[in-house]
Amino acid sequence: MGAKVMVLGGGGREHAIAWKLAQSAEVAEVYCVPGNPGTAAEAKVHNLALKPTDADQVVAAAHALGIALVVIGPEAPLVAGVGDALRRAGIPVFGPNTAGAMLEGSKAHAKAFMERHGLPTARYGRFTDTDAALGYLRDHPLPVVVKADGLAAGKGVVVAFEQTDAEAAVRQFLQWGPIIIEEFLAGEEASFIAIVVDGQVLPLAGSQDHKRLRDGDQGPNTGGMGAYSPTPILDTAMSERVLREVMRPAAQGLMTDRTPYCGFLYAGLMIGSTGPKVLEFNCRLGDPETQPLMMRLRSDLYTLLLTAACGDPLPKALDWDSRAALCVVLAAAGYPDHPQVGDPILGLNKTQGDAVKIFHAGTTADDDTVITAGGRVLGVTALGESLAIAQQRAYAAVADIRWPGLQYRQDIGYRGLRRA
Ligand SMILES: Nc1ncnc2c1ncn2[C@@H]1O[C@H](COP(=O)(O)OP(=O)(O)O)[C@@H](O)[C@H]1O
Ligand SMILES: [Mg+2]
Repeated sequence: MGAKVMVLGGGGREHAIAWKLAQSAEVAEVYCVPGNPGTAAEAKVHNLALKPTDADQVVAAAHALGIALVVIGPEAPLVAGVGDALRRAGIPVFGPNTAGAMLEGSKAHAKAFMERHGLPTARYGRFTDTDAALGYLRDHPLPVVVKADGLAAGKGVVVAFEQTDAEAAVRQFLQWGPIIIEEFLAGEEASFIAIVVDGQVLPLAGSQDHKRLRDGDQGPNTGGMGAYSPTPILDTAMSERVLREVMRPAAQGLMTDRTPYCGFLYAGLMIGSTGPKVLEFNCRLGDPETQPLMMRLRSDLYTLLLTAACGDPLPKALDWDSRAALCVVLAAAGYPDHPQVGDPILGLNKTQGDAVKIFHAGTTADDDTVITAGGRVLGVTALGESLAIAQQRAYAAVADIRWPGLQYRQDIGYRGLRRA
């Protein structure tokens, strides 16, 4: 009899994780908490209408179902201590405890960690007081980057090119708690994600997100409008360098600090003329980077994450499809500020073939109709023999899908194509 696995979360990332877990011959059932209509439609996958941040509910359901492994998708349950509660209950879990998740939960904690352990990152100051923060602004040249300390769902960072913008961000973010002001770093961003288990580091393939709403990286910041993998900027040499200068020292630093860690560790990097620097750490996979990564991953995700959750030796390397994968996020009208919801999605049922997969994010089901229910609605993901072919395939599939005011970027993958 196969294993029962639970996935916490209900976005595009969790659809991709659940889809990949369900492909394992070892897995009988996958339970998504709460999942979405996309996960509900996958073979072996079921949704559970529970709150993923409610540790008591999650532990009780995992016990009642005989869950062999819980995989925590988003940051909120990690920071809320759901990993700790599952571990206390003796249930294998992939995703760090609150102490480890502080690397994402507090940017000030992450900066102090990086400073303590010699990781490359922007110079910074931490402030709780307006006068001191404004003093720092006077003493440092523009641009500067102002960051709120805690989880802010992408709304807690301002890259300020004008003094007035910097001051406004300082005043606004200080109302929520401590802030960071840091040096502006020039370069190209990339996402480097590894599985980290108490000093063991197993890197995933490199990927690149597209944070801005509009083509050419214009417009407001979003949760991410598309991603692709692999990315030429994280070639073998640069990946080795990131492992050596960032990921291994981070894993070692956690050990030195006596912080147990079992989960994904995501380094958001700025790669400039002096090499990679860490913009931030996340304690989970990126969304939408997960969608192309899961399309390319050939290794059995269940076996891998269970091995990690049990603290056993990780494999030396993962097996990846040599093809490129690219995900285009389809967002609702008004995203990111005021997404319009409740529109029926047309063209979802067109068969796309094995090289294309549509991952759901902000959707809900109304009888047989799938309707929009959030800002980022779908992640249309395609494999291709080259990045250009993956891009072409993804956009061909996007063209079949419609709802009023649908918006998406037309240029996902452009940096990779430019370098290729
Ligand atoms: N020091 C920096 N220099 C230049 N750009 C930065 C810097 N820090 C952050 N950014 C930009 O702001 C974005 C968001 O910052 P990040 O630290 O990743 O916070 P979050 O993802 O929590 O919003 C980054 O993706 C990057 O584009
Ligand atoms: Mg970020």
